[in-house]
Amino acid sequence: MQDRHSLDKAQQPASIDDMEPEAFRAYAHQVVDWIADYLSNAESYPVLAQTAPGDIRRVLPAQAPAQPASMSNILEDFERVIMPGITHWNVPGFLAYFANTASGPGILGEMLTGALNVNAMLWRTSPAATELEQVTLDWLRQMLGLPDPLFGVINDTASSGVLYALAAAREALPLHIRKDGMAGRKDVPRLRYYASQEAHSSVEKAGIVLGIGQSGLRKIGIDDQFRMDAAQLEKAIRQDIAEGWQPFAVVATIGTTSTTSIDPVPSIASICERYGLWLHVDGAYGGSAAVDPEMQWVLAGCERADSLILNPHKWLFTPMDCSVLYTRKPDVVKAAFSLVPEYLRNTESVGDEVPNLMDYGTSLGRRFRSLKLWMILRYFGQQGLAARIREHIRLAQLFAHRVDDSPHFERMAPTPFSTVCFRAHPQGIDDEQHLEALNERIMSNINEAGRFFLSHTKLYGHFTMRVAIGNLRTSEQHLSALWDDLQTLLATHLNT
Ligand SMILES: Cc1ncc(COP(=O)(O)O)c(C=O)c1O
Repeated sequence: MQDRHSLDKAQQPASIDDMEPEAFRAYAHQVVDWIADYLSNAESYPVLAQTAPGDIRRVLPAQAPAQPASMSNILEDFERVIMPGITHWNVPGFLAYFANTASGPGILGEMLTGALNVNAMLWRTSPAATELEQVTLDWLRQMLGLPDPLFGVINDTASSGVLYALAAAREALPLHIRKDGMAGRKDVPRLRYYASQEAHSSVEKAGIVLGIGQSGLRKIGIDDQFRMDAAQLEKAIRQDIAEGWQPFAVVATIGTTSTTSIDPVPSIASICERYGLWLHVDGAYGGSAAVDPEMQWVLAGCERADSLILNPHKWLFTPMDCSVLYTRKPDVVKAAFSLVPEYLRNTESVGDEVPNLMDYGTSLGRRFRSLKLWMILRYFGQQGLAARIREHIRLAQLFAHRVDDSPHFERMAPTPFSTVCFRAHPQGIDDEQHLEALNERIMSNINEAGRFFLSHTKLYGHFTMRVAIGNLRTSEQHLSALWDDLQTLLATHLNT
């Protein structure tokens, strides 16, 4: 960032006040210019940070700063020290995990959220934050084609959301666990919940936190498309009941982390209804696709779910972090979490008209996350969001077709969304150890080259590369270039 030395004088603290407003204005302009340049030149950065473990830490002083520093120095250090250690999720070649986008309106929303610095814990601690969250999530519900009424709250992550959903499911049992806990109680049977073996690790972590334990999660087998086998689920529930377990919840996933498979929610919902179990749907990645009316089929059965998550910070162009938890049973979630000490009591905490958002999870403090989501929904509109989602799916289908048409590569899973699972499998090479080594080498060569970043999973025990399209800057040209690189690397490795 250039030309900031003239501002340093204004920045020098003359008193114990905050930064001078005029200095703030000038630096804010510089930072915004820097952001605009960074985003428009995103492609010039290597995707992966070019640093070794500990490099950044070693350059930073171990001693806490005792004296003030000028903002120009701080910003220089940001570029000199911090930037080399950044992995650039904004680069169009970022195709790992679930690639995402901090869209322009989302970044502007974050800036305003930082400036307003409201804590949306109670309605009165910022009515607009509470009410905008409710309205924005109702707009999103409409865009997703989900029926009213559906109560929504925004959390940091889906990992928090599934914890809250399962805490509510546990609260729905007539065991008053919230009050008396579970440890040492002879009147509490061992609790069981279910998810497919492809479910995200956060589902298992929630059981650890809730005292249900990892053995309280029973992982259900999958079919040949990586979807939960509903018949196996019902069999497991019956078996567990016969053995004295208390089943209480099922987590179905729409867009599993490895392959983006879609569990059969309608059948799972019927099972949950038969056995009186809470149905939570993890649509952290795949749920967002339903803003495209043509993709709303992915949420079939979700109108029967007790709770549902989707992460705008994954595939709805929202900067980290923003995860939506919807529930048809807000009273149960509230019963699990509401605890109002005297210092937080207020007269407005009545009725659904004015919720106090602190009542729906463990955190008291809550960022004003709905502002950026509101700006994104308005700026793009449903049609704009749907067009972008459709384009990502189109790009993934094109890439999948290339894989399918090649005698040297094979697709490892169906591609219902924008993520392609594949591996090199040249004709005549069937030794699995050889294939594993070959694919690992190809992927690390791609990642070392700096233009693309792929991540992997294992399917049927086989090393599998993933191309996850979720960045608005990723185009057909980028994927063609990646495809060319894959061919070249394969040829090189086969000839050595
Ligand atoms: C299907 C699924 N659920 C949940 C999560 C966890 O999301 P978060 O990082 O918001 O906790 C992920 C993360 O990739 C995921 O793929």
